[in-house]
Amino acid sequence: MKVIRTRDYDDMSRKTANIISAQVILKPDCTLGLATGTTPIGAYEQLIKWYEKGDVTFAEVSTYNLDEYRGLTGKNPQSYRYFMNHTFFDHIDIKPENTHVPEGANLDAEIACREYDELVRKAGHLDLQLLGLGRNGHIGFNEPGESFSKGCQCVDLTQSTIEANARLFDNADEVPRQAYTMGVQTIMRAKMIVMAVSGEDKAQAVHDMIHGPVTPHCTASILQLHTNCVVVADEAALSLC
Ligand code: GLP
Repeated sequence: MKVIRTRDYDDMSRKTANIISAQVILKPDCTLGLATGTTPIGAYEQLIKWYEKGDVTFAEVSTYNLDEYRGLTGKNPQSYRYFMNHTFFDHIDIKPENTHVPEGANLDAEIACREYDELVRKAGHLDLQLLGLGRNGHIGFNEPGESFSKGCQCVDLTQSTIEANARLFDNADEVPRQAYTMGVQTIMRAKMIVMAVSGEDKAQAVHDMIHGPVTPHCTASILQLHTNCVVVADEAALSLC
């Protein structure tokens, strides 16, 4: 696990964007696993700027997002599909049909997860998987538990995640209680993993991810076992390391 220490959020965002853009330049038809949350917004903004300048094109790129709230359609502004379209996809030249997010509108969890796994499996090993970090150490929506998940699954969100994500809703009652998430084994199959993390509220999770035992109680700790994982973190996030 390589750790890149950055000054602050902006520095972290530019370095993360640099790594993603290098991947796209080296392999224009690459497959990217993408993340939502507030952390990657700065990196997406930077990539849009480089696209507008003509430095990078996403015309042949395919993307696979990590997760989606169960029960929200892509038209719902709180859905991750909506977030991805409005924050990133609508501003670059990626083909909409090459962007994939678990189907939150499909309430049949078994079918929704099976179909998403099938899509990702067909893509082969993703070239680069971007991750954010939950305050409790989750990746995607793989909450702390007794074992690491394999394929896509429907999860009950923990109270801490509901509270953390409530800031993006009018109130905590509106946060969906379940989500579909790419499994940990699928994430670990990516050829390269880039974990972007910022802020003091993530410091304990960052410490446990990098220095703690590899345990499903801190899902991100499994990244210690990946052979090509880079953590791009700012000073605040690394303050306990
Ligand atoms: C959310 C998402 C994750 C995200 C994490 C951190 O619950 N499911 O994919 O990485 O929490 O979010 P943020 O970047 O907003 O702190």
